[in-house]
Amino acid sequence: MSELNTIALKILSNGKGILAADESNGTMTKRLDSVNIQSSPENRLLFRETLFASDSMKDCIGGVILFDETINQTSNYGKTIPAMISETGAVPGIKVDTGAKDLANSLDEKITEGLDGLRERLKKYYELGARFTKWRGVYIIGEKYPSKLAINSNAHALARYSALVQESGMVPIVEPEVLMDGEHSAEDCLIKTSEVIKKCFDELIIHKIDLSGVILKPNMILAGNKSKNKIPNEEVASKTLECLKKSVPNEVPGIAFLSGGQSEVEATENLNLINRNNDTNFIMTYSYGRALQQSALKFWSKDKDIKGTQNIFNHRAKMNTLAAQGKWSKELENK
Ligand code: 13P
Repeated sequence: MSELNTIALKILSNGKGILAADESNGTMTKRLDSVNIQSSPENRLLFRETLFASDSMKDCIGGVILFDETINQTSNYGKTIPAMISETGAVPGIKVDTGAKDLANSLDEKITEGLDGLRERLKKYYELGARFTKWRGVYIIGEKYPSKLAINSNAHALARYSALVQESGMVPIVEPEVLMDGEHSAEDCLIKTSEVIKKCFDELIIHKIDLSGVILKPNMILAGNKSKNKIPNEEVASKTLECLKKSVPNEVPGIAFLSGGQSEVEATENLNLINRNNDTNFIMTYSYGRALQQSALKFWSKDKDIKGTQNIFNHRAKMNTLAAQGKWSKELENK
């Protein structure tokens, strides 16, 4: 077993999942604005360290994705943030892309940037304690989209990123997110997501990536959020499995889904159904941002009650860890 494979399995095994707390300052400001909290470095730290100090970190969270600001912060508990996370048994990770920018010659679409100087930044993050990384490519669905240009250029960037990350001794999360925005059908989402993921792995193979040391972070297969033809959760699960079976090489140890705008319970229920029907060798777990943090953030914003906020986060983490083993139920959710 390679060292990278060992790290990936440490993050994903036994129903553990990933807490995606890597919102850029811009995105975190939007989240904090929505609950009337001023987006200062102190407030961003205060909310995040409340989650990192929760009991569920030990049993449910295998990895935490951080943003550059957070990995450099020292918590009010007196430890650096990466040290605080490592002590719970979870692996600290870091978002290393520098964001999605307009794609020249297809301006409705995006290309993710961040390759310049990446090797040097990775060295610094490794020294700070990070052992895995994230890079997100983002794609829209439309009549002409995603274009070949967007599919090829983002796959190429994800492969170059992965090569540098593995060279530096860390596990790359490869995140090609096909957005749920729009009127498209679930069938369109299935076709486009399969094409996008396949192209990513074609490029990863050209770039000689050790696939046993990669985590894929895809979207689930859903109808667009403006579609009139939503599909039942059972079909979300079967279509998601169909997509991954035909587009992900067997050597990949695990898949950690993004929540992408699904409600908290919807994201849990769909993950549970995926695992009940998982007839693959892939570990299937969560790497949720909003679906792990939304209720906790709303509660915290009222009076910054640490224990109460942690109770809410602990419940969400526990429900998702049950779902990652196909053991979640509505009764447990409402207990
Ligand atoms: P969501 O679960 O909120 O989609 O965030 C996950 C993530 O890391 C997106 O890049």
